[in-house]
Amino acid sequence: MKKMLTLCVIVLLSYPSFSQNDISSKAKALLAKMTLEEKLGQLNLIIPGGAAVTGSVVSTDVESKIKSGKVGGLFGFWGPDQIRKAQDLAVKNTRLHIPMIFGLDIIHGHKTIFPIPLGLAASWDMGLIEQSAKIAALEGTADGLNWAFSPMVDIARDARWGRISEGSGEDPYLGGEIAKAMVRGYQGTDLSKNNTLMACVKHFALYGGAEAGREYNTVDMSRIKMYEYYLPPYKAAVDAGAGSFMSSFNEIDGVPATGNKWLLTDLLRKQWGFKGFVVSDYTSLNEMVNHGVGDLQTVSAQSLKAGLDMDMVGEGLLNTLGKSLKEGKVSMADIDQACLRILEGKFKLGLFDDPYRYIDETRPAKDILTPANRAAARNIAAHSMVLLKNDKQLLPLKKSGTIALVGPLADNKRNMLGTWVVAGDWKQSVSVLEGIKNVAGNSINIITAKGANFTNDTALFLKRVNALGVEAEIDPRSSADMIDEAVAAANKADVVVAVVGETSNMSGEAASRADISIPASQQDLLKALAKTGKPLVIVLFNGRPLTLVWENEHAHAILDVWAPGTEGGNAIADVLFGNYNPSGKITATFPRSVGQIPIYYNHKTTGRPFDGTGFPKYKSNYLDESNDPLYPFGYGLSYTKFEYSPVMLSKTNLKGEEKLTATVTLTNAGKYAGEEVVQLYITDPVASVTRAVKDLKGFQKIMLQPGESKEISFVITTEQLSFYNSELKKIWEPGKFIVHIGTNSSNVQSAELQWSK
Ligand code: BGC
Repeated sequence: MKKMLTLCVIVLLSYPSFSQNDISSKAKALLAKMTLEEKLGQLNLIIPGGAAVTGSVVSTDVESKIKSGKVGGLFGFWGPDQIRKAQDLAVKNTRLHIPMIFGLDIIHGHKTIFPIPLGLAASWDMGLIEQSAKIAALEGTADGLNWAFSPMVDIARDARWGRISEGSGEDPYLGGEIAKAMVRGYQGTDLSKNNTLMACVKHFALYGGAEAGREYNTVDMSRIKMYEYYLPPYKAAVDAGAGSFMSSFNEIDGVPATGNKWLLTDLLRKQWGFKGFVVSDYTSLNEMVNHGVGDLQTVSAQSLKAGLDMDMVGEGLLNTLGKSLKEGKVSMADIDQACLRILEGKFKLGLFDDPYRYIDETRPAKDILTPANRAAARNIAAHSMVLLKNDKQLLPLKKSGTIALVGPLADNKRNMLGTWVVAGDWKQSVSVLEGIKNVAGNSINIITAKGANFTNDTALFLKRVNALGVEAEIDPRSSADMIDEAVAAANKADVVVAVVGETSNMSGEAASRADISIPASQQDLLKALAKTGKPLVIVLFNGRPLTLVWENEHAHAILDVWAPGTEGGNAIADVLFGNYNPSGKITATFPRSVGQIPIYYNHKTTGRPFDGTGFPKYKSNYLDESNDPLYPFGYGLSYTKFEYSPVMLSKTNLKGEEKLTATVTLTNAGKYAGEEVVQLYITDPVASVTRAVKDLKGFQKIMLQPGESKEISFVITTEQLSFYNSELKKIWEPGKFIVHIGTNSSNVQSAELQWSK
């Protein structure tokens, strides 16, 4: 203890208190004292034991590397005592006592898990999304961490891609608003506080554009598409002050992102003014060798010069830059720049003031999985759920009678949390059965039956889906026996609630699917349940849009609950029984069939547009499928009924930098109090480059009591008319514009105006 105090004193003396303004000069002064080896050590980020959860926290090899100053940061583990041990190794043993940074994949909560990001996005509630990140920061820092590998802001238009679950869907404007809310939530206003985490925005860039939705696949897209549709959320995160960025696995214009100078320097730093540091994705630097752009020494030098600062796991920078420096392939200035950015990050986090700032063994008990955190998770989960169908007002359910609660997810805690829950413990989660008992258990009779395995393809499960540990147990009974049991339960019940869909690991990293329907074993169950003629409610778990044409036709109600997190079961019951009236709206289009992908609302008209009527030849359509999605972007129902008045424009002829106000009156014409996401879209029908049929430009989430009406206004400026032209300049062009306001991207009220220069 005494030794440690002395050490802290040394550290504090070497790095006295500073203000944010002099971070750069402090970092430069420290850099001036460093040897080449010490500098390269700062660029090195490694994972103890080689695995996030199961590895020994500080393996011998890692330990000796830390002691010899070859490690700038660690990730993949947590807990104040473990992190203290690791920090001690760096601070007490290295010549300059430089503290390490500690990161983790905190994606949708740390230990109190919130809905998967695609679900969070469906809430369209920036306050709640920010709150989820703030609680994640409170819990992550209580566990000794100071760096979150989040937010993931990759736009995705392809539901086959498993990582669509980790982002906010297909829209760049909504994605940008969410990116800002997440950065605010993690970082707060002062990164050096011990309850804020540095955000790491990923995956820069365009990772969601993988061809055919296949994980890690090639990305190839026009600059206009990048600027208009894929880059805005990353830019929004820069504007919000994100401290770090992670480069992506994919290539851009034939150059892997991790070594792409245009991306990491020209765009990110020069055009956008990003001041933080860039870390690679997991061995993405080394993978440039597989991409076929050079050997490890070449790609390491290329990446450093491109603007990469820190190397995750691969140690290419650590092991090759010395040689490249001698051979003149990189300069000391290149190395200094990367090292400086990492030191600045550590200064911002306050680690030089106190390397143990985030380490307090009393905090986990005070700050993690508290009743307040769990209450927030329950509320946020309820807000993320989307009512996809509700025939004859079957929902909300009455708190009386008998419910047949069936399906492989009905009584299943393991799959409540969803993908990327490194520190989350499924045993802490509330199952659907438990939630229903908590909310309505005393007044209803519940009969349960599993009904089906997640899939009958056990090889897929054992080898791929369960690759990270058992997540879905396989019931040895035959499908027929399980279905018979469920049908018997249904026959005794007033209503059937079938809890079906994807397991947590059927989406997320390396979980692309070529068939995005509910697996056949569960569809067979649903078909048998439908035949009973009982009212059928589907509670759908999914990490992506699924193809649900049959389900939409035959179920009476469908509630999409994504993977709802720790308090999922309670939140599902809150919505099913009407304690909360659902208000979520999908943020990624649900296709009718996989052949329609990529399908997204902000598409172009084409030269031969199809208006949806008849069966004409030589139009942009399919022989065997409609062009329409099953559920459009922005879609989601409520237990109440919202009515929109026509759109009123304050002006219909504008000039120059004038503004106008577009207003609708929204009325709650139903019986329940409820929230509606009012969406504003704009169409620019004629421009020098082709534009989308419409683009989201604003939204407001409004609460109305039954019978209540409210005027909802949006101010429209030329900013909302602007787009990237063929020189990639952001401009607006005069002419006609159409303003749409409505309940989803397909169901809007519209009004036209003229705007001249
Ligand atoms: C993922 C990143 C993640 C990193 C560290 C990679 O495989 O692509 O999103 O942050 O691993 O766990």
